[in-house]
Amino acid sequence: MKAIACTGYGSPEVLQLIEIPKPVPAADEIVIRVRATTVTSGDWRIRSLEMPPGFGLMAHLIFGLTKPRQPILGSEVAGEVESVGNMVTTFRPGDRVLAFDGAKMGCHAEFKSMKAAGCVVALHDDIDFETAAALPFGGTTALHFLRKTDVREGEKVLVIGASGSVGSAIVQLASHRGAMVTGVCGSSNVDLVRSLGAGQVVDYSKQDVLSLGAQFDVVFETVGSLNISQTLTLLRDGGRAAMIAGGLADTVLAMFRGKSRGIKVVAGPAGELVEDLQEILDLTVSKAYRPVIDSTHAFEDIPKAHLRVQGKRKRGNVVVTTG
Ligand SMILES: NC(=O)c1ccc[n+]([C@@H]2O[C@H](COP(=O)([O-])OP(=O)(O)OC[C@H]3O[C@@H](n4cnc5c(N)ncnc54)[C@H](OP(=O)(O)O)[C@@H]3O)[C@@H](O)[C@H]2O)c1
Repeated sequence: MKAIACTGYGSPEVLQLIEIPKPVPAADEIVIRVRATTVTSGDWRIRSLEMPPGFGLMAHLIFGLTKPRQPILGSEVAGEVESVGNMVTTFRPGDRVLAFDGAKMGCHAEFKSMKAAGCVVALHDDIDFETAAALPFGGTTALHFLRKTDVREGEKVLVIGASGSVGSAIVQLASHRGAMVTGVCGSSNVDLVRSLGAGQVVDYSKQDVLSLGAQFDVVFETVGSLNISQTLTLLRDGGRAAMIAGGLADTVLAMFRGKSRGIKVVAGPAGELVEDLQEILDLTVSKAYRPVIDSTHAFEDIPKAHLRVQGKRKRGNVVVTTG
């Protein structure tokens, strides 16, 4: 089968089209024929090793010293079950599925194997593969941090990076919960962010975000443009903050900072929960949620898709189809 291998750390030139054997499912696995996948900010970070401050050494140890131990990137996939292991009873060949395999990756290939009991759900016929592939990364990260910060109806919520994959999901899901959302984005994304449900939109090229002052119940920092001390100045006493793109210092400080004002700060990785994947899919089916799609690329153009992601200007999600 065809796959895109990340042969080292660096610019998109390290990505190469290769031929490798098609996977055979272990007893508890399924093999998915990939119809659509994505290039996420996670894929770009691993390929370039451009990590939030302080995580560089840890990333080398986790992903591989000189090149990625798992050379095939891509964490989310929509497609059809091709084959199942002899202990699998939950899926059958031909089933449409949506899966999120996080740091195990391996989705930038024609076929992807994974545990049948992993983060994989049946995909409704009325959701196309491109839309489905754009759901897990942004959508489940948003659900994780909304749960951790317990966003409630009527609360004032600030989303910094409201036009990104994670930010565009938080804007929609917080609005759906009845929160009053202010989104922060650049000039070209103001209309998009308003259309996602933000009652107020702040164009960061025209207004300093910090000038908004301590008025919010919850702040989601999805860009890394503010550190924890700056983020706390935007919160009322008793508020919550999610440092979603925080560096090592913010992740450690999250355990201590804000306590004197009754503020809870959350950080760290979101992980992959099948319940969250099912929830974001259900919200999409009921039209309460729609993933923002920046662009769609052919499989062979995955290096070009990486360029789009590393530019840090994408709106929502960059999708790849296998044709
Ligand atoms: N903790 C976790 O588990 C977890 C999970 C997923 C992702 N992440 C991290 O979360 C971050 C966001 O990921 P993502 O995929 O959502 O990012 P993304 O889609 O690549 O973000 C791109 C967007 O950010 C906007 N942006 C750039 N600078 C901005 C600024 N100063 N203020 C407001 N908006 C700005 C851009 O809009 P303009 O063009 O208008 O500037 C663009 O639309 C990444 O650092 C990623 O590594 C963490």
